[in-house]
Amino acid sequence: MFWWKQILIEINLIVLIAAKYPEYNEGYSLSVPVDHFAYTISDTFKIRYFYNLTFYKPNGPIFFYPGNEGSLEVFAENTGIIWDLAPKFNAAVIFIEHRYWGKSLPYSDESFTALSRIGHMTSIQTIADFAIILPWFKQIYNISQDSKIIAIGGSYGGMLAAWMKLKYPTLIHGVWASSAPVVWFNGGGTPLGGYGSRVQKAFKFFGCNNSTILFDGFNAISNLGKDDQGRQKLTNIFNINPKTPLNSENDVKKLLTFVQTAIENLAMTNYPYPTSFLTSLPAWPVKVACSFILQSPANPSTEELATLMKNISKIYFATNLTCLDAMICGNPENPKLADVWDFQKCTEIIIELCPMGPPNDFFPMLCNDRESFLKTRKQFCSNNYKHIGWTDNLMRENAIQETYGWDFTQTSNIIFTDGTIDPWGAGGVTNNTPGIMDGQKRQIFNFIIEGSAHHLDLRQPSSCDPENIKNIRYQIVQILKTWIDPSLPPYSSTALPPFAFPNVTDCEYLYNQYPWNQK
Ligand SMILES: *[C@@H]1O[C@H](CO)[C@@H](O)[C@H](O)[C@H]1NC(C)=O
Ligand SMILES: *[C@@H]1O[C@H](CO)[C@@H](O)[C@H](O)[C@H]1NC(C)=O
Ligand SMILES: *[C@@H]1O[C@H](CO)[C@@H](O)[C@H](O)[C@H]1NC(C)=O
Ligand SMILES: *[C@@H]1O[C@H](CO)[C@@H](O)[C@H](O)[C@H]1NC(C)=O
Ligand SMILES: *[C@@H]1O[C@H](CO)[C@@H](O)[C@H](O)[C@H]1NC(C)=O
Ligand SMILES: *[C@@H]1O[C@H](CO)[C@@H](O)[C@H](O)[C@H]1NC(C)=O
Ligand SMILES: *[C@@H]1O[C@H](CO)[C@@H](O)[C@H](O)[C@H]1NC(C)=O
Repeated sequence: MFWWKQILIEINLIVLIAAKYPEYNEGYSLSVPVDHFAYTISDTFKIRYFYNLTFYKPNGPIFFYPGNEGSLEVFAENTGIIWDLAPKFNAAVIFIEHRYWGKSLPYSDESFTALSRIGHMTSIQTIADFAIILPWFKQIYNISQDSKIIAIGGSYGGMLAAWMKLKYPTLIHGVWASSAPVVWFNGGGTPLGGYGSRVQKAFKFFGCNNSTILFDGFNAISNLGKDDQGRQKLTNIFNINPKTPLNSENDVKKLLTFVQTAIENLAMTNYPYPTSFLTSLPAWPVKVACSFILQSPANPSTEELATLMKNISKIYFATNLTCLDAMICGNPENPKLADVWDFQKCTEIIIELCPMGPPNDFFPMLCNDRESFLKTRKQFCSNNYKHIGWTDNLMRENAIQETYGWDFTQTSNIIFTDGTIDPWGAGGVTNNTPGIMDGQKRQIFNFIIEGSAHHLDLRQPSSCDPENIKNIRYQIVQILKTWIDPSLPPYSSTALPPFAFPNVTDCEYLYNQYPWNQK
C-alpha cells in the first residue's frame, strides 16, 4: 500500500515521485484532542506541519494542503504547484500531517495496537484537527485572520479538502481537489469495475492495442503456480526473494497481486517525464510496458507470458529480487504505520472496487457484485484486525455518505480535476452528482483531463507536460485569482485542449514560469 510496503492487497491513493525538494520549516501544533466529539477521554497530542511564510504578504491567501495517508514529506515533495504558485499569490504555505501518520501519532508506537487507540483514526477527527490548527496558525504567525484559506489536495487529500469545504464553509474559502474519488461509495454511481477498466483504458490509450495478453499472462502465472515444477519456474523467472518463497498456490496468489499492483501503479503514475524518488520510472511508463507487449511473440508459451509479466512488473518494482511481502524482507520504515490506511478501509472509507476480468479489465476476477466485494473486504479486515478487536460491525458501509455525502448544491468554490487514464478518475464527480452540472454559477468546476494520470496537475510543471495540463493550471490560476480578489468577475471555464504527446524529449522541471509557454 505504501512505498515501503511493496506488496499490497489493493492499491492506495498516494503517489510517490518527487521533483526538487521544497524548502520549509517544520512545526508542531497546539495540543488537539484525540477525540473531538465525545467526552470519555481527555488525551491530547500535537500534529506536525510544514510551513513557509517567505512569500506571504498581508492580504495574501493561505495555501493549505490537508495531509493524506502518508508521512507529510511525501505530499510536500509531490505537490510542486503549491510551491510554484505561492510567490505569484503572495501566499503563506502550510501542509498539515494526517493523524496516525508520520510524526503525528497520538500514542506513539502504541497508536496502532488496540482498538481503543487506533479507533480515533477517522477522517472527521482529522479534519477537526485541521480546523483547530488553521486559525491557530494564523494567530501565532501573525497572518491576518481574514486571509483566505485555499485547500489544495490530491487523491484522499483532495477528498479531505472537499469534505472540509462542506463541514467548515466559513473556514475554507476554496478548494482544488485533484483526482479525488469523492463519489466512489455505495450509491455514488461509480461502477465496481471502474478501477480495472481505467487501467485497461490507460494501456489502450498508450499503445497496447490488444491488452488481452495481460489476462493470458495472469492465467499463465496461475497455471504454472499449480505444481512444484511450475512454481520453480516462476521462482526463476521472477527471481523470487528466498525469504518469501513460492511454496503453495496461496503464495502464487501473492505473486499475482504483486504483478497486479505493478500494472495498476504504472497506470496511476503514467507521467510524461521520468520520475525518480523512491521508485525510478521512465517517461510514460505504460508506453514502455506496451513496448514489451508489442514485442512479444505471436503465440507465446506459458513461460514467455510469465516472462512478459515479469518484465512489466519490473518497470515499477525495479528491484532485482521479487519480494512478495515487504513486511518480511523489506526494511519498512515503520511497519505498523503501513496498516492505518487499511484500517480506514475497514471502517469508514469503503471505496467499492474490484478487478472483474474481461471484458471489463485484464485482471483475474476478485469479485463481481457488491455483495462479493463486501465479503472479500470483510475477510481482509478480519485477517488484519481481528486481533485488535475489529468485527464486521465496525465496517460502516455508509459512513462517508452519512458524514459528508456528495451533494454540492449548497456549497461553492470547488475545483475538481480528474484524468481520463487515472484509475481513481473513475470515482470523481460527474454531471449526475448533485450540484455539479449547474456548478459554475457557484464557482464549482469539474475538469476532465484527457490522458492524465493521478493528480498530474498538482505536480511541479515540466517542459514535457502536455498542452492540456498547462492549460488547466492556467485556468485554475484564473479561478483562484477571482476567489481571492472579489472585485474580479467570476471565471467561466473553457474546454481543455485535447491530449497530445509533447514533442519535447529533454524534460526539465519549470520553476516559477507561469503560464508555462502555453500555445
Ligand atoms: C521558502 O521557500 C523559498 C523558495 O523555495 C526558499 O527560498 C525559502 O528559504 C523557504 N523558506 C523557508 C523558511 O524554508
Ligand atoms: C507577531 O506579532 C507580535 C506582536 O507584534 C510579535 O511579538 C511576535 O513576535 C510576532 N510573531 C511572529 C511569529 O512574527
Ligand atoms: C492498433 O489498432 C489500430 C486501429 O485498429 C491500427 O490502425 C494500428 O495499426 C494498430 N497498431 C498496432 C501496433 O497493432
Ligand atoms: C488479442 O490478443 C489475443 C492473444 O493475446 C488474441 O487471442 C486475440 O485474438 C487478439 N484480439 C484482437 C482483436 O486482435
Ligand atoms: C523480457 O525482457 C528481456 C530483457 O529486457 C528481453 O530480452 C525479453 O525478450 C523480454 N521478454 C518478454 C516476453 O517480454
Ligand atoms: C540480480 O540477480 C541475479 C540472480 O540472482 C544476479 O545474477 C545478478 O547479478 C543480480 N543483478 C544485480 C544488478 O544485482
Ligand atoms: C515541436 O513542435 C513545434 C511546432 O509545434 C516545432 O516548431 C518544433 O520544431 C518541434 N520540436 C521538435 C523537437 O520536434
